[in-house]
Amino acid sequence: MPLHSRIEPTIAAAIAAGQGGKAPPKLARALDYAVNPGGARIRPTICLSVAMACGDGQPAVANAAATAIELIHCASLVHDDMPCFDDADIRRGKPSVHKAFGEPLALLTGDSLIIMSFEVLARAAAIDPARGIDLIRILGESTGMPGGICAGQGWESEATIDLGAYHRAKTGALFTAATRMGAAAAGYDPEAWTELGARIGEAFQVADDLRDALYDEDTLGKPAHQDEIHNRPNAVSELGVRGAIRRLEDILSGAIASIPSCPGEAALCEMVRKQAERLTPVVPAQHAV
Ligand code: IPE
Ligand code: IPE
Ligand code: MG
Ligand code: MG
Repeated sequence: MPLHSRIEPTIAAAIAAGQGGKAPPKLARALDYAVNPGGARIRPTICLSVAMACGDGQPAVANAAATAIELIHCASLVHDDMPCFDDADIRRGKPSVHKAFGEPLALLTGDSLIIMSFEVLARAAAIDPARGIDLIRILGESTGMPGGICAGQGWESEATIDLGAYHRAKTGALFTAATRMGAAAAGYDPEAWTELGARIGEAFQVADDLRDALYDEDTLGKPAHQDEIHNRPNAVSELGVRGAIRRLEDILSGAIASIPSCPGEAALCEMVRKQAERLTPVVPAQHAV
């Protein structure tokens, strides 16, 4: 994907800055291990695609926004895999960070990446103060309480889970951050872009439920069948495989319809269509109806 050539160097520069000076060597290595090689980089791709659709008037600010979102995402995965959460041994096809470096360094890796993402935005604020401050606020809203990733993970400690709030916070918040921050980085009103991010986030959650149900650990690069094992409510148990795929298609066409008018609207529709194709799982023969 061509946008990766824009995303990877800014992520690499942020990690290199965190590894500089008299950094403790193991934690410095763990930062890179948690972020590279990356996964699909879907959130920064969406962020930059929206910024470009809005004219991309400040490319360095948009790059900072995309990088900050991906660093937070990687941090959330490091913490999520730890024994106090999902206790998952593999991530992106290799030992998860606490397996490779131990729990204290995994906790600190996640913490460092979260802080680093706000540093990246603070540096962007030096280029464009108003946009930088907006970006810091949006990333904070998407990451903390009451509706960000912390809230999403927090729902797992409640006796009764509000499923909608859980998914919106755990998964949806970073997708709405991606569209809102892409728009804000280009000087557009971020709020007009919330619906697109929310719909992509919802589609992503359904696709993730399908992949969890249909694929094995080798294909996923992380433990499979977790929803069934942990008895978590999910789209496949609710709608069946075919029903979940239909739901995914419905949400994605709604996503395309929700794109606000902007100079690069056509190209952005195309990007969402491409991501939709990538997200829709190939159904193994035994599940085909
Ligand atoms: C995994 O996200 C975490 C969820 C919110 C389900 P991704 O599937 O985007 O993970 P990577 O970054 O591509 O590995
Ligand atoms: C992880 O959520 C995403 C976070 C917000 C921490 P999950 O636990 O559902 O996703 P995977 O299956 O580990 O990627
Ligand atoms: Mg989890
Ligand atoms: Mg998990």
